[in-house]
This record gives sequence, C-alpha cells and structure tokens, in this order.
Amino acid sequence: AEKRRFAQALLKWYGEYGRDLPWRRTSDPYKILVSEVMLQQTQVDRVIPKYYEFLDRFPTFDALAKAPPEEVRATWYPLGYNVRPYRLHSIARETVARYGGQLPSEADELLSFKGIGRYTAGAIRAFAFNQDAPILDTNVMRVLQRVFLGQGDPKSNRSLLWSLSEALIPKGKGYDFNQAVMDFGALVCTARDPYCLLCPMKNFCKSYPCDGRSI
Ligand code: ADE
Repeated sequence: AEKRRFAQALLKWYGEYGRDLPWRRTSDPYKILVSEVMLQQTQVDRVIPKYYEFLDRFPTFDALAKAPPEEVRATWYPLGYNVRPYRLHSIARETVARYGGQLPSEADELLSFKGIGRYTAGAIRAFAFNQDAPILDTNVMRVLQRVFLGQGDPKSNRSLLWSLSEALIPKGKGYDFNQAVMDFGALVCTARDPYCLLCPMKNFCKSYPCDGRSI
C-alpha cells in the first residue's frame, strides 16, 4: 500500500515539477544511450550542451562507430578524461557489428555488451523501449533507502533496493516513474539538506525529517 502511495505521489509531483530535458524529447535509443552514459558521472547542467555537441558530431551509431577514438575523446572533453567515451564508442561498434546498428531491447542482450551494466540496460529499456524496467543509481538508491528503509547505507541494501525499484513501477508507467525518481532525487530528496518540508512523501517516509539537517 505504501508502494502505491509512493508511486502516486511521485507521478503527481513529476507532472507538476518534472524537468523538460533534451533526452526526454526523443525515443531514439542512440540518443538515450549517449545521455545516460554522460549522466553517469556528470550533472545535468553540464551534460546538456555536450549532449547537443556530441550528437551533432556523431548523430548515429554508424557515425560514432566509424570515428577515430581520439576524436570521440576530444568531443567528450571536458566531461572528464575517463573510460566513458571509449565505452560508448565500443558499444556503438558492437551495435553496428552485431545488430546492424539497432540497439536491442532485451535485458540479456543489452547486458551482453561490454560497457552496459544493469543501470544502463534498465535506462535503455525504460526510456527507449517504454518497458517497465527498473533502474538504480546512487540517486534512486538514496531516495528508496530513505523512504522505505530509513537511515542507513543504501550500498549495503543493493539487491533489496533493486527489487523495490522494480516493484514500485505502476504497470505501463516505467518511463515516467523512472524519470520522476531521477528528478525527485535531484530536486527534493537531495543528498545534502533535502527539502523535507515540501516533500509529498513526508507522511510515510521512514526518514522524515531526515536527521534535522533538512530544510
Ligand atoms: N540522470 C541519469 N539519467 C537521467 C535522466 N534520464 N534524467 C535526469 N537525470 C538523469
């Protein structure tokens, strides 16, 4: 019952306060993959201009697969010198080589890619293929831990939180539900000083009022 209340409150909140972000205006699996890989370690504000620039330069899996790795890395800069551009490049080459340039929609197939883990597979299934697939990143973990489990370290509850993330999705609402948790974690249930007073979950949240630091 608490689960249903959470989903309802969250979707209602999202309808009012959800962000209009560029990757929510497309269903192209390639663009969604690019956005999700960029967002893995970088804030939304910094990702937006790079997302446009990257897609301008490499608009499709084919274009990215053909590009020299050096150039992919250069376009990625300054999002961080790390493995992400190479990982994305490798996913593009594998998509072209094994799937004719079309990303598959099945969990098992997605997870067989080098560079696609459980989070990214879930994000692609939910955001590109409209499936009721769960996602779990640090933000989602924090929100679900606080609301359903209370104070504690979400990292020690990984498998429980994955099950919760799946069980919470109202049928047919995987896309909106998952985008909504992202926004809720970024705007209300923030890591530091969460906005508990205006939280629509406060009446049943296990952590309310978040150890007194909340505002
Ligand atoms: N962080 C990771 N994925 C995101 C998304 N789709 N929207 C906003 N923030 C995100």
